[in-house]
Order: sequence, then structure tokens, then C-alpha cells
Amino acid sequence: MGPAVGRGLLLLAALLLLLGGAAAFRVGAFNARRLGSSKAARDDVRGALGRIIARCDIMVLQEVVDAKGQVMPLLLDALDRATGPGTYQALSSPPLGRGSYRERYVYFYRPGRARLRDWFVYEDAHPQRPDVFAREPFVTRFDLPSPALPELVLVPLHAAPGAAEAEIDALHDVYERVRERWGQQDVLFLGDFNAGCGYVAGSRWDRIRLRRDPPFRWLLGDETDSTVRGSTRCPYDRVVVAGERSRGLVVPGSARAFNFTARLGLTEEQALAVSDHYPVEVELALDGAWGGPRRPPPALLLLGLGGALLGLP
Ligand SMILES: *[C@@H]1O[C@H](CO)[C@@H](O)[C@H](O)[C@H]1NC(C)=O
Repeated sequence: MGPAVGRGLLLLAALLLLLGGAAAFRVGAFNARRLGSSKAARDDVRGALGRIIARCDIMVLQEVVDAKGQVMPLLLDALDRATGPGTYQALSSPPLGRGSYRERYVYFYRPGRARLRDWFVYEDAHPQRPDVFAREPFVTRFDLPSPALPELVLVPLHAAPGAAEAEIDALHDVYERVRERWGQQDVLFLGDFNAGCGYVAGSRWDRIRLRRDPPFRWLLGDETDSTVRGSTRCPYDRVVVAGERSRGLVVPGSARAFNFTARLGLTEEQALAVSDHYPVEVELALDGAWGGPRRPPPALLLLGLGGALLGLP
């Protein structure tokens, strides 16, 4: 009787988790290291990028070096084949940069899980801090199918290494801008901030408003390693969340650098052909879906529980 009851309770717990559990919603950012059209056309690179993007409901690529805009269609094509036509949509920023070297931010998102509502390139003209960003954040606003979090704003940044401290600090200005423009407080800041290893000294953190001020929670700590090379250990890539609602929905332990070397079974050399960075990601526990509620009605839940109990050995 004892073991049977124990097993029954386990089953019950598993069932409750399964039925009542919220649907995790994964957001990621990936510095794809000088991703141009010839690199994106390589089968190995495109295959790996497809698998990396397909983990996420929204993924922002950085360092897309693509004047003609050929990378986005190449990757959408790979995603169509991997996940079914139209599963992903994409949005690219214009090429951003001060000189002739320019990069795009490119978003991939599942329109079944997140609807793109609006976007803008941050106007980098703060009276006290004009032209801080080498590549101004390309800010987006998504509608989510969740009463707990109906909207989410994303602010990606690929900081210039030599100006990382100033750029991270200025994300605070971008937050103010988002609040003025959209009245939104739920914001995820994410990307390759170059936030460590000589680019931001440990003693400087308390001068950086995004780090110091209360609304912001850094989900990846300074001990994180987002670099592919075994010989380096740096927390360059980060995710920072602001807004009480979104902070409350972060799945504990879900923020991480995604080690695709290990997960895709690559050698270090094969992984470096994709990037020298790992993507960073976080899951939010959303509680709904378009096309009907995700939770089953109570009657179904009871039926399921009854079945599990009767099914005991
Ligand atoms: C990633 O995985 C590889 C292969 O398992 C391992 O050698 C490496 O240390 C891991 N890197 C990090 C940052 O976890």
C-alpha cells in the first residue's frame, strides 16, 4: 500500500504540473559573429542557426553584417524547412553604425506566440549623452497571448567593447524613452553588452545605472561564461529584466548561456564556425495562448486525476 500511494502521489504531482503548468515562453539573443550572406549560406552554419533560433519564441541576432539584406530570407527559409512554413517571421533593423562598418539586429519570432506591434531605432541624441551607441538599440513591442503579461518590450544591444560601460549605462535612457513613448515598464534588455573581461571593470558596476537602480534585475551574473572558446571565460552576453510583472514571470533558473557546442554535439572548431559567443536566453511563465485557454477546464482536470488514481497498480 505504501509504495502504491507514493507512486500515486508522484503521478498526481506530475499530472498537476502538466495540466496546470504555464507554457514557458523563451526569449533569446545571439551574437552570430559577422554573419553575412556567404556565411549564412553554409549548410553547417545555417543548420546550427536554425536549431538555435527554433529553441526560442523570440530571438534577436546581432552582428548581422549584411548590406543587401540577404541573411534574413536565407534563415527564414531554413526555419521554414525545420519547423514548417510560416512558423517564424522576421524583422530586421537598418544597417547601424558610425562608419562604413554596419550591423543589423534581426528578430525571429513565432507569430503564433508573439505578435509584433511596433518598433523603433533609439534616437541616440540624449542632451547629456549624445551619440553613445555604436549600434543604437532596435526596440520592439510584442503582444503576448497572456493576461499576466499582455505586452513585452525588447531592447537588444551589441555594445562596442571600448564603450561598453557608457552604452550599458545609457540603456537606462532607452528605458525612459520606452516608458514615455509606450507607457511600458516590462522590458527585457538583452545581447552582447561586452559586460566583463576588461571591458567593464568590477569596480565600475555601481556607476552603471542599469545595474545599480532598483527596477532592473540582472538575470545572468558576472560568473556566467558566454564564450565558446574553452580558453576564455567572460560574461559578455546578458539578459536584464525590468517591470514587476515580467520579473515575476521569469522561470527560476531558466536564464542561461546556451551551450550549443554540447547540445548540438559539435567540436569547438565547428562551434566557432557559427560564433565565438553562446546565445543567452530566459523563459517567462505565460499563462495563455491564442486560440483558446491553455489550461484545461476543471472537469477535464478531475477526470484526468481520477484516471491517474484508478490506474494505480
Ligand atoms: C560547453 O560545452 C563544451 C562541450 O561539452 C564544454 O567543453 C565547454 O566547457 C562548455 N562551455 C561552457 C561555457 O559551459
